[in-house]
Amino acid sequence: MPFVPPEVLLLGPGPSPTSTAVQRAQAMPQLGHLDPAFLPLLDEVQARLRSLFGTTNALTLPIAGTGTAGMEAVVANLVARGDRVVVGVHGVFGQRFAEAVRRRGGDVVVVAAEFGQPLALEAMTAAIAAGPTRLCCVVHAETSTGVLTRLEPIAASARAAGALFVVDCVTSLGGIELEFDRIGVDAAFSGTQKCLSAPPGLSPVTFSPRALAKAHSNPEPVPFYFDTRLLTGYFGPDRAYHYTAPITMLYAIAAALDEVVAEGMPARAARHREAAAALRRGLQPLGLEPLVKAEDATPMLTAIRHAHGVDDKAFRAFLRQRHGIEVGGGLGPLAGKVFRVGLMGHGARRENVLRALAAFGDALRAAGQRPDVSAALAAAGND
Ligand SMILES: Cc1ncc(COP(=O)(O)O)c(C=O)c1O
Repeated sequence: MPFVPPEVLLLGPGPSPTSTAVQRAQAMPQLGHLDPAFLPLLDEVQARLRSLFGTTNALTLPIAGTGTAGMEAVVANLVARGDRVVVGVHGVFGQRFAEAVRRRGGDVVVVAAEFGQPLALEAMTAAIAAGPTRLCCVVHAETSTGVLTRLEPIAASARAAGALFVVDCVTSLGGIELEFDRIGVDAAFSGTQKCLSAPPGLSPVTFSPRALAKAHSNPEPVPFYFDTRLLTGYFGPDRAYHYTAPITMLYAIAAALDEVVAEGMPARAARHREAAAALRRGLQPLGLEPLVKAEDATPMLTAIRHAHGVDDKAFRAFLRQRHGIEVGGGLGPLAGKVFRVGLMGHGARRENVLRALAAFGDALRAAGQRPDVSAALAAAGND
């Protein structure tokens, strides 16, 4: 029996819903990874990713693997044993970033903030300036909390200290306009299953010339798979075999990027902002409140505090079973305390917000609460 997945509205932290065009693209016949009909697609995908990252970096490409593979690739190339690396940690993905650097032998200096709070910029600046910092790493949109990091001041501090600035934009790429060259981001990695609305399995990465210089002078051997020279060998003009590119994933990301281009990034970013604002407006009548203040919040992910006495697992199971809606649970210290609603890519739409709010109301009623669903829907529906 072939597997037939049930219809589920994906409003969790990713994967996000994919469009029919992206699904069809992924179902197209394979070509060889060196086939002349396939290779131009690689160039097109790279050009479109450059535009999304806001960069002219030659080394901008989707590596095989999920967002964590991009993180490993960046860390493996840019960190050498004993390098002082300042990492902003205000959520689970900052913790992961710090751990990846530590495993590579970096001397990690953590600048921590409470989960749900932004990083303190003065603390970041002080930590960067306090030693021979080689790298500064932050998560742009912290998916475990829904906090957005202000990149510009941290980039300036890193630049002043002669450090490279590295950004996890797994959740922000395709949902927020990025201007990495203007800001001074030296390397970044992302994923496909969030605001790009493609399936998980590729990690777009970008390395500035400064970052590449550091990678090429790294005294430690870089894992074969992530070696920037070998990656460039395939994605650049040589077209030298490095690993077998995941052909149909590349069809899918190309189709997803076509949709980004057709919509235009400013309109797409506005759509994400509007969907998040509608969701936030609808929470209070349900007796719910967001974890993060509006001015610090990411548009694509909203963490919502559970109402007193509501069981997280039962609440989310109710949404999935009765309403066919997936939302995420809390991570780390927020486990059981919040649920996370992703309005990402194709999913960032007012109609999904209204459907979600009605379902939250139903789940809250089932848990003995008294939500005002009509008021929630009216608030979300009115700008
Ligand atoms: C901010 C952030 N960084 C890194 C990751 C890891 O990505 P993946 O799960 O695709 O490996 C995620 C995944 O949710 C994320 O949200």
